[in-house]
Amino acid sequence: MIDIHSHILPGMDDGASDIEESLAMAKIAANDGIHTVIATPHILNGIYSNSRSKILAGTDELRTAFAKEQIKSDLFPGSETHLNFGMAEKIFSGEAVTLNDNQRYLLLEFPFHSIPPGAKQEIFQLQIKGITPILAHAERNYGFQQHIEELYEFVSMGCLVQITAMSITGNLGRETQLCAQKMLECRLAHIIATDAHSVAYRPPILSTGVKKAAKILGSAEQAEEMVTVCPAAILAGEKIVIPEPEQPAKKRWFSLF
Ligand SMILES: [Fe+2]
Repeated sequence: MIDIHSHILPGMDDGASDIEESLAMAKIAANDGIHTVIATPHILNGIYSNSRSKILAGTDELRTAFAKEQIKSDLFPGSETHLNFGMAEKIFSGEAVTLNDNQRYLLLEFPFHSIPPGAKQEIFQLQIKGITPILAHAERNYGFQQHIEELYEFVSMGCLVQITAMSITGNLGRETQLCAQKMLECRLAHIIATDAHSVAYRPPILSTGVKKAAKILGSAEQAEEMVTVCPAAILAGEKIVIPEPEQPAKKRWFSLF
């Protein structure tokens, strides 16, 4: 399996605090069957200022440490870029890192509480430059939880969607789990990733989420593709053919009176 979303680089953000934790996370991932990880520290969110050069150097250092510890996982650079005005220019000027630094796919984080106005225009600017946005853990966004039909619009305009394994298993709350389930049922999610932050709190484990996704999708093969075929294409910068999404029904609001 390939994990495209992991805060495994030490000391970059709210993920691994030091190299020991990074190595411990890598061992947990390897034991779970994850052979390749894209390191995605937060950037452009006003809190963490990780430059492209810092992320590339950090990835090289951790890859060397993997070899010393005989951890057989591959490691590639990336970032989780906060939705930002003028993103496309920032990426091309080297302020942000696309997944595997190949200028094809960007892991894009929305604020948790809303779908920002202007998001579609910014995404369009990325697409003009040939970059496909991957919406990070859309199921955790309150706006999509309340209005999943808006996620359909983003997918229809060419966005991919990453869903977090622990959201599917219910570890991140009931609303998040329900949204994750709906996204899978409507084929509005394309990649499952860990969004791992630590050894204990959010560990790099995919297998339990994939098993649960297989039940929801009614297909083990489709669930496995979300951690194998799709992320492999992202890593290689190749085009992904996605299943036709179903238009989800709007959430219904019932009144007691
Ligand atoms: Fe993340």
